[in-house]
Amino acid sequence: MSEKRSGFSSRIGFVLAAAGSAVGLGNLWRFPYLAARYGGGIFLLVYLVLALTLGFTLMLAEIAIGRKTGLSAIGAFRSLNKKYTFIGYLASIPPVIILPYYCVIGGWVTKYLFVYLTGQGGAATQPSYFDNFVVQPLQPVLWFALFLGVTALVVLLGVEKGIEKVSKWMMPVLVVLSLFMAVYVLFLPGALDGVVYYLKPDFSHFSAKTVLAAMGQLFYSMSLAMGIMVTYGSYMKKEDDLTGAVHQIEIFDTGIAFLSGLMIVPAVFAFSGGDPEALGQGTSLMFKTLPQVFHHMPGGHIIGGVFFLLVLLAALTSSISLMETVVSILQDRLKWSRRVTCLAVLGLSVLLGVPSSLGKGAWNHIRLLGNDFFDFFDFAANSVVMPVVAILICLFVGYVLKPKTIIEEARLSRRNATLFTVIIRYVAPVCILLILITSVLDELGLFSF
Ligand code: PHE
Repeated sequence: MSEKRSGFSSRIGFVLAAAGSAVGLGNLWRFPYLAARYGGGIFLLVYLVLALTLGFTLMLAEIAIGRKTGLSAIGAFRSLNKKYTFIGYLASIPPVIILPYYCVIGGWVTKYLFVYLTGQGGAATQPSYFDNFVVQPLQPVLWFALFLGVTALVVLLGVEKGIEKVSKWMMPVLVVLSLFMAVYVLFLPGALDGVVYYLKPDFSHFSAKTVLAAMGQLFYSMSLAMGIMVTYGSYMKKEDDLTGAVHQIEIFDTGIAFLSGLMIVPAVFAFSGGDPEALGQGTSLMFKTLPQVFHHMPGGHIIGGVFFLLVLLAALTSSISLMETVVSILQDRLKWSRRVTCLAVLGLSVLLGVPSSLGKGAWNHIRLLGNDFFDFFDFAANSVVMPVVAILICLFVGYVLKPKTIIEEARLSRRNATLFTVIIRYVAPVCILLILITSVLDELGLFSF
């Protein structure tokens, strides 16, 4: 049964939903670490320049493709040029792969919020607490199921009644919580050294790796090259201003990443007595270091709760965008009802998510290219498929579709149009190829970030 295609009711609804997708775990647990490691202020500057050039170009292209065709990735590429439908198929792979394990992490975050809400934050200060938790066979799977279930519920409610509604309150709350946390941390004794470390440009840490790391982070953080922005663009109104929307999404994404560094780096500094090595990254930063840091803060139990609520909101709006993308692609293709499609995607995500969760415990011995299921999915989607898709999109827009089509759809100004054309044809494909090569070499142990 086919249904009328839904859409966002307002421009702000679209911006908040797309920003909700962009702002996620990448902003909160990866950006602060990268900034601290790759030269503080200089990393921030490089990131900002890249966001305004490369990030702007790619996001604009994807949203414009979606809006022009009114379809999600596969249908969109097919309707633009039948021969290039395969780009749509390729772009659909990352969300299918990422959604399940993203929800596994979402489950961990939910568990930690629960721990703080029930006053057990003290127990979580032991690094072994996290290790003991993730290796269990059942508990993490149940938290994963809860997080996935909530995601599915929002997607089931639809674009306007689910995603737009939820984003409209979650995103402002997220901004307020981030500001609150950053300000609170700044007043801790010893925090100022961390602020200086985070913001002061350190040129001795500047190298080609700084640029590569910033570029890799940018694509992931802006949810590019996986059909998400094509899908969200397809729900956008024709008359809305696209360039302005892209700028607003970028301000959101970069702003929250910046604030997250401003709370995390000084907090860890104040706690560790100024040791940047203490920062760590990813899961160890979030689930081991930060609980210890909170424990030593005045009112740490409450702060820990606030923090994990913030992370939960960020993760939830991202996982919603992942699921919506998969649902939308299937719906466009198979013309199933939203309910049936949601159920199918839910089932598929359970099938892929459970091995990801168990990969950290009972199934840790099963190895794919030397990785457990979780890390393998992460590598395949982010380091291989996404860069390939990003390059293909650039080449397709730059040479097959021609930049003019996007420039007209987005009604770009003359200056922006030139910038767009140069980047999409020449700069972006080369830069992304470099990311692809270095991330694969990194995985093979021949290069290290
Ligand atoms: N952009 C999100 C982040 O910064 C990650 C994400 C990737 C979300 C892919 C959805 C899809 O964490």
